[in-house]
Amino acid sequence: MAGLNGYVCRRQRIVECKRHQVPFEHAQLQGVVRIQIEPRSVMSRELDHLSWEHQVRKFFDDASKEYAHSYAGMTAQSHYYVMRQKIVLSFLESLNGGRILDVGCGPGMMVEPCTQRGFLYTGLDISEKMIAECQRRHRSASLANFCVGRIQSLPFENDFFDVLLCMGAFEYIRAEDEDVAMAEMIRVTKPGGLLIISHLNRVSPYWVWDKYVYAKARSLKRLMKQFLRGRGRRQDELDTPPRDFVELERRKAIGSRQLKIIDTVYFGFNVFLRPFDRLLPRLAVWASEKLSSQSRSSLRMLGMAFIIVAQKTGCMSADIVDLISNACEPSEGAAGAPDKFRNKSPA
Ligand SMILES: C[S@@+](CC[C@H](N)C(=O)[O-])C[C@H]1O[C@@H](n2cnc3c(N)ncnc32)[C@H](O)[C@@H]1O
Repeated sequence: MAGLNGYVCRRQRIVECKRHQVPFEHAQLQGVVRIQIEPRSVMSRELDHLSWEHQVRKFFDDASKEYAHSYAGMTAQSHYYVMRQKIVLSFLESLNGGRILDVGCGPGMMVEPCTQRGFLYTGLDISEKMIAECQRRHRSASLANFCVGRIQSLPFENDFFDVLLCMGAFEYIRAEDEDVAMAEMIRVTKPGGLLIISHLNRVSPYWVWDKYVYAKARSLKRLMKQFLRGRGRRQDELDTPPRDFVELERRKAIGSRQLKIIDTVYFGFNVFLRPFDRLLPRLAVWASEKLSSQSRSSLRMLGMAFIIVAQKTGCMSADIVDLISNACEPSEGAAGAPDKFRNKSPA
């Protein structure tokens, strides 16, 4: 095993560290890790997994100081974030407080809007620095608490929260973890509670252009720069881009679980494709604003993302089921919770 072996052993140690839940650096110093050879396929699957989560954590650790600023100003990106927040809040307006869990909470942009509405807020994030940011920014928020953790193994009791938010985080869960992440989010939500999950829309013109044209042009430019200036690559994006989804697939996946879909709302009608949305931010925001009334119409597919709102079924009374099915009827027009859903609290 020596030679190639230094490398393989290091990788192997990472696998062992994960299994024994020992931090890798610690294990290296203490030499506590037993080296054991595993079939290559198992090993590389675990390593892919580790390196992906490590990358996501590092990416958001690095972004933790600036992330909150992306909600401010007149840019297509800030408009996207603000619209997402508005839609989520329109669903919360209809509830009478309770416990809310925000998974992948980032720097806690939902703390104030939730606590002001009387919710007891818990934020969880895989990035320690994001959680440190939450603690720094919301030191005096008595109704809020934060913890470092993974969506795939939530450190909470069953049926604990009235609302579960997952905004902009589901796209960072690997496909093979999707089921376990969904199961965890459902487990900690009370029967009758709401799950509000945002997804990137794979078929939106913005992402199609981004994936097949813009990203390719950018990597070519980056390669040329590196070649000409001999510069190292700047880590301003993940090696694997965030995942995108198709509404029908997600509705099927969600509907097959202990969940009833209440609504699907599209947002982020950024018809100015990259880089034009950055060059002409006011126009991009204006167009997006104009199109936001299409959030449930046949033009909704133009939206960069969609939010699925679902209710956990279980010991729900029949009248609540009826109430929800009525509220479910998609209404054309402005984004937000359907009127029938307003002023109703989950079970
Ligand atoms: C795009 S940010 C969204 C932040 C916040 N929800 C918002 O809407 O402003 C995604 C967040 O999800 C977190 N995240 C990604 N994968 C995660 C996982 N498996 N478990 C917990 N948090 C995760 C990241 O660290 C990051 O803070």
